[in-house]
Amino acid sequence: MLRLVLVFSLLFTLCLSSSAQTCHTYKSFSNNLTYSSCNDLPYLNSSIYWNYNSSSGSLQIAYRHTGITASNWVAWAINPIGLQSAMIGAQALVAFQLSNGTMRAYTSKITSYATTLPEDKLQYDVSNLTATYANSQIIIYATLALPSNTTTINQVWQEGPVSNDIPGAHPLAPDNTNSKGTLHLISTPAPSRRSGTNSIAASSSRSSGRMLTWVLLRFWLTMVCGWKLIHVILF
Ligand SMILES: *[C@@H]1O[C@H](CO)[C@@H](O)[C@H](O)[C@H]1NC(C)=O
Ligand SMILES: *[C@@H]1O[C@H](CO)[C@@H](O)[C@H](O)[C@H]1NC(C)=O
Ligand SMILES: *[C@@H]1O[C@H](CO)[C@@H](O)[C@H](O)[C@H]1NC(C)=O
Ligand SMILES: *[C@@H]1O[C@H](CO)[C@@H](O)[C@H](O)[C@H]1NC(C)=O
Ligand SMILES: *[C@@H]1O[C@H](CO)[C@@H](O)[C@H](O)[C@H]1NC(C)=O
Ligand SMILES: *[C@@H]1O[C@H](CO)[C@@H](O)[C@H](O)[C@H]1NC(C)=O
Repeated sequence: MLRLVLVFSLLFTLCLSSSAQTCHTYKSFSNNLTYSSCNDLPYLNSSIYWNYNSSSGSLQIAYRHTGITASNWVAWAINPIGLQSAMIGAQALVAFQLSNGTMRAYTSKITSYATTLPEDKLQYDVSNLTATYANSQIIIYATLALPSNTTTINQVWQEGPVSNDIPGAHPLAPDNTNSKGTLHLISTPAPSRRSGTNSIAASSSRSSGRMLTWVLLRFWLTMVCGWKLIHVILF
């Protein structure tokens, strides 16, 4: 009986943790763009996708934010100062739909909590900055030139209202104030459960591996021993 409980709780845990990463299933980017890495962000229905060349520092990203309306702005930013101030110092990519239906995508350097996100040059060169809005989802595309050999960035992301084509202050709900974290651009470090980091990706792929091992083991046992014996062994 104890074994039964253990086996089921193991299965349950494995299933839960391997369904945590959903960004991999989305493939419908503009111009057939593909990304080698992605990370589901823990707040505000957001995911970040990227390709990165550390020797050149070229970071190609797509930031996907779902569950929003045509009168929302969304933003994804790097904050080179740190995550303490999060918003102040953020080098932001901003996008929203103008009232005439055109998407506006631009950069804004955030220096004040009262900002209306005016257009500004960032401390990084940004190229190919575009955005799309469809099916309650905005995707921002851009290529940023980071200092070469950068491995980790502080990321901040956000959503807020737009009125008369001007971004307004974002809500101060916990989801809006917690939406920041570290993004490891290259290798995934030892798994930990800190939110906002892509360690979630590592533990999820590890447990998919364990799940596969489990399935293969069961298949092999079935072939060799038959179900009756498995029942005896496991239950
Ligand atoms: C995207 O890929 C499809 C199928 O391979 C191709 O027909 C289409 O022309 C591509 N579109 C762009 C913008 O490259
Ligand atoms: C990465 O950047 C370096 C330096 O600019 C370049 O030589 C190399 O070809 C790039 N690698 C890829 C895969 O694009
Ligand atoms: C996430 O999206 C769903 C709809 O897809 C929406 O109901 C929910 O409010 C969104 N959550 C946030 C924090 O924006
Ligand atoms: C919408 O407005 C913006 C800013 O005023 C302008 O640049 C753009 O061309 C307009 N788009 C259309 C389709 O009129
Ligand atoms: C910008 O996009 C064009 C067309 O897709 C591509 O050829 C070019 O390499 C891109 N530039 C950068 C810096 O990503
Ligand atoms: C980046 O790292 C490579 C390999 O470690 C090194 O040769 C190069 O000098 C570094 N570049 C910078 C700008 O630090």
